[in-house]
Amino acid sequence: MDSKAFISSLKDWVGKEVTLSGWLYNNRPSGKVQFLILRDGTGLCQCVIERGKIADDLYDALSRLGQESSLSITGTVRAEPRSPGGYELAACGAQIHGPATDYPITPKEHGIDFLLQNRHLHLRSQRPWCIGRIRHTVIDAIRRFFNDNGFILVDTPIFTTIAGEGEQTLFEVDYFGQPLHLAQTGQLYLESAAMSFGRVYCFGPTFRAEKSKTRRHLTEFWMVEPEVAYIDLKGLLELAENFVTSIVQRVLKDNRCELETLGADITGLEKIVPPFVRLTYTETADILASQKTVDFMARQLAEFVDQKAKYEKELADLEAQEAAGGLKKWQQEKNARRVLELRAEIAELEIKIENNPKHAQLAAGFRWGKDLGGSDETIISLMHDKPVFVTHYPRDAKAFYMKTDRSSGKVVENFDLLAPAGFGEIIGGSLREDDYQELFKRIEEEGYNPQSYQWYLDLRKYGSVPHGGFGLGVERTVAWITGEKHIRQCIAFPRLMDKIYL
Ligand code: 4AD
Repeated sequence: MDSKAFISSLKDWVGKEVTLSGWLYNNRPSGKVQFLILRDGTGLCQCVIERGKIADDLYDALSRLGQESSLSITGTVRAEPRSPGGYELAACGAQIHGPATDYPITPKEHGIDFLLQNRHLHLRSQRPWCIGRIRHTVIDAIRRFFNDNGFILVDTPIFTTIAGEGEQTLFEVDYFGQPLHLAQTGQLYLESAAMSFGRVYCFGPTFRAEKSKTRRHLTEFWMVEPEVAYIDLKGLLELAENFVTSIVQRVLKDNRCELETLGADITGLEKIVPPFVRLTYTETADILASQKTVDFMARQLAEFVDQKAKYEKELADLEAQEAAGGLKKWQQEKNARRVLELRAEIAELEIKIENNPKHAQLAAGFRWGKDLGGSDETIISLMHDKPVFVTHYPRDAKAFYMKTDRSSGKVVENFDLLAPAGFGEIIGGSLREDDYQELFKRIEEEGYNPQSYQWYLDLRKYGSVPHGGFGLGVERTVAWITGEKHIRQCIAFPRLMDKIYL
């Protein structure tokens, strides 16, 4: 009797007969033997099918199957280091479920637009598969961290009545004739829940009508937000530091294979342990406008130019090999994959080389009072191999609810956490203004109607306490951990400002 098995658990089945069900990833048929690579959602496995061991017509039908045909294969499991997962199946039977021909996504080059149009199919490819599995781990680690540390989950609404993060990024919806908007943050509701449970978190889809087409912005993304009563800024930073460390360590433990396949910076991730770097906004502004940054940017530019030349040489060599002909099919496919990678890397470096002087100029002109721009964050995060907390931003550059630092009156008790290696902000957080009069003043300054914020102001009227929290963006975190350059690859069906594909 054979048993149904998953590729990820083949190590428990060595010497036994099992049936694997999945999709055809690749096949190298010959007259006498086929090395068929099956994927089943948990991994890849080589299935060796010898003519004579199964019926001839089935053997021929298998050899004609196109990429992504669905099938089951029965056979005996054996260890084989050359098989993708370390085990292979010596087949004695097979069943074809749904043959596929002309599957549109092949190892050849596809533009990003084509892949997004075919996102429903592209999800099966190796990169999205690895990223999807890591995203799953990240989300599980997030929930575990808060559940294990005494936080209560509170689901905050998606239809919201008040703005948290500025009216210019609100998506308005017609709610039976009443204008409402989609949640930009669960924070304001969460603050009220924190006064009930002490430590709470919400985790859900978040909507921002951001008119930015950058690789860091989606219009729909997932954010987890903890909120804690009786906490100071030091405590909040420690919470964020332990939280981010727990996510990274979990991915390193559970998804090493996926990280390797993606070419992620595993050594860099291993360094993600407390303490992270702590800079105030004022220190950051000084760094940006300093000679240190001028020199750093010049070194970066030289590295980019040098790296680009190396990639161009490798690409030219591969193209010459291809033109000379005589390569085996597997070599051609391997080269084709590398050519794709090289072209993408070169395109990426061209953008960096073009942007470097602009970003250097912006940094040199940075003046106290401005919010940090994306390029400023990139520079600071490139300068460090650990995440960087930037704290105490100018009051006027930040959201109305942030608590004014009483010692200066000019800055707020907040922080952004910048991921290293140029990935930029993954967390924004702060202490909340807990004084009724101060908050009322800020709401008015912002031009909001205090009437709409009455319930939020009430929290400062009935037992106000120092409290704070933060929000971590899931897609930006996954992009950083996986080394993926664009966050649109870090969610199954991305929503971008300029286009929604599916
Ligand atoms: O800094 P933000 O705007 O903070 C808040 O929303 C606070 N209310 C959170 C809180 O204190 N409870 O956003 C938090 C994080 C960012 O650091 C980023 O990771 C992510 O949310 N984020 C986005 N991710 C993708 N696309 C966008 N358009 C994003 N905007 C913010």
